[in-house]
Amino acid sequence: MNMKWIFQIAYCDAAEPWQLGFQDAATPIMQGIIDLHHDIMFFLVIILIFVLWMLVRVLWHFHYKKNPIPERIVHGTTIEIIWTIIPSIILMVIALPSFTLLYSMDEVVDPAITIKAIGHQWYWSYEGRPFFSYQVKEMQLRSVIDYSLYYSDYNTSDEQSLAFDSYMIAEDDLELGQLRLLEVDNRVVVPVNTHLRFIITSADVLHSWAVPSLGVKCDAVPGRLNQTAIYIKREGVYYGQCSEICGTNHAFMPIVIEAVSLDDYVSWVSNKLD
Ligand code: CUA
Repeated sequence: MNMKWIFQIAYCDAAEPWQLGFQDAATPIMQGIIDLHHDIMFFLVIILIFVLWMLVRVLWHFHYKKNPIPERIVHGTTIEIIWTIIPSIILMVIALPSFTLLYSMDEVVDPAITIKAIGHQWYWSYEGRPFFSYQVKEMQLRSVIDYSLYYSDYNTSDEQSLAFDSYMIAEDDLELGQLRLLEVDNRVVVPVNTHLRFIITSADVLHSWAVPSLGVKCDAVPGRLNQTAIYIKREGVYYGQCSEICGTNHAFMPIVIEAVSLDDYVSWVSNKLD
């Protein structure tokens, strides 16, 4: 019997009013970012308490009423070695997981799908090469390693391509349950558990393509292609916003990614092409 529904929890994949913490992770990278944050926060709290304790102690014991004649000590070799070595050890302990995360974010594993996101004043447009149902059948027969040979990279002239604009839904046009300033008319639909590559650029000024739950914030620079890898682990709708001041409607060019099963993705693509 499938008891999965008992443990079903609601994820937060959009910003909440007065939110201070992170949104729920949907990619291993975002999970890594949250873990690193908690890791560093541990050291941060210890250092904060220790420094505060020392300051209060110094103010208390060396107040001029309590200690009118000051000591003549100017240095002590042992204490100086200790307060140099310990912080540098702490820094190394922080640096190791930090660099590990940094380099794993740079890694683009053989992507199955490449999507190009282009920033405009003030909307996003997307271009991608779809793959078709017969290719999915074929893909299921092949190992993960070589399917990228068949379904990666850019359009060749004889293939159909998928291109659409994605505009924010104006406040007056919102339907019940839709999120203000976050909903778009055309969502980017992608399959879960698939290595995706996003190529990000701009047609006019600087924009930034950012989706918190996916752990992505990538600048869209005119004349330049930035790339980022995404691997979404669960189905859901992920909301993001342009994150580089790009003009008067900067706040009104959100990003919506809808992660679905591979079968749903294939039917979405075929609908889109008709
Ligand atoms: Cu586009 Cu801010």
